[in-house]
Amino acid sequence: MKKVGIIGVGEYLPKKVLTNKDLEKMVDTSDEWITTRTGIKQRRLVAKNEAASDLAIKASYQALEDARLKPEDLDLIIVASITGDMPFPSVSCLVQNAIGAKKAACFDISAACAGFVYAVTIAKQFIESGLYKNVLVVGVEVLSSVTDWKDRNTCVLFGDGAGAAVLSQVKSGGILSSYLGSDGSKKDLLYIPAGGSRLPVSKETIDNRMHYIKMQGNELFKLAVTLMAEAAQIALKKAGLDCKDIDLVIPHQANIRIIMAMAKKLKLPEDKIYLNIAKYGNMSSASTATALCEAKKEGRIKKGDIILLDAFGAGLVWGACVIKW
Ligand code: UT7
Repeated sequence: MKKVGIIGVGEYLPKKVLTNKDLEKMVDTSDEWITTRTGIKQRRLVAKNEAASDLAIKASYQALEDARLKPEDLDLIIVASITGDMPFPSVSCLVQNAIGAKKAACFDISAACAGFVYAVTIAKQFIESGLYKNVLVVGVEVLSSVTDWKDRNTCVLFGDGAGAAVLSQVKSGGILSSYLGSDGSKKDLLYIPAGGSRLPVSKETIDNRMHYIKMQGNELFKLAVTLMAEAAQIALKKAGLDCKDIDLVIPHQANIRIIMAMAKKLKLPEDKIYLNIAKYGNMSSASTATALCEAKKEGRIKKGDIILLDAFGAGLVWGACVIKW
């Protein structure tokens, strides 16, 4: 079996910063509540003329440079996003055109906050099978476009950003295992009611604020802890490893309390958990993607390290990958 690894990473965060103090002026909340309940201090927001593909393109160029590949070397682009530029075409086609990836096939996937883990797992299969050599995976979200800025339960949580990775065949290490899960029976815990074919845009859906994220945070919190811990254990078992073998966990960044409760379940020390939630909030598929990129840039990932990607989100969907760097 071919070994498949991540040979380059990149990211792009929009320039505008929205702090908890700024939010205090918008809804009935406080920096203290947001910090203690979520671990978030600030988040990035797109400018008026910026959309998902703009962020994805910048992250992609950086990942290609890190991988020392040219856009023409790409065989496939997979973008994980729930906030694409428009219903269609896909964000991946917009990226393909902008960077000049003339040879690449393209598609987007919808797996919310687990999107990057799902896309990395999909990319791995294409390379293992021998169909493609170099695959670009991007996690990008403009959650500010679907956030109800009048709802304090959700608007303090989300942010915008993009992370990218290039996957290719490697001589040693690589992705040792992947595990993906889902439970559509819990679809109503986190969703956007309108804007699709069930409830197309109408005056009524707009008046009722149905194009924004609706979330039952409490229920999700408990499920996130259980299912992320379970995903880690299953993926590690598949790789023939144990929690103590992990050098660094790159978790989805929804809430610092979720991450720490998961770490406690797995008996993992805090210094083995990578966090960027304080700076960026929850960026759905872009959270794990940017966290992986930043951990690499900061020297937290060294050759031979065992890395665990672990994510959970709307659907519900969840998953984990064990990677030997
Ligand atoms: O991305 C993957 C999927 N997402 C998640 O996994 C998110 C999971 N959920 C969470 O992270 C947490 O549940 C939240 C951060 C969303 C909420 O934290 P919580 O500790 O579960 O708070 P809660 O929903 O139980 O609310 C506690 C109180 C409520 O007031 P009462 O009813 O006790 O008087 C809320 O109204 O906090 C209130 N509250 C706020 N207060 C100040 C909710 N949002 C805010 C706010 N500022 N922004």
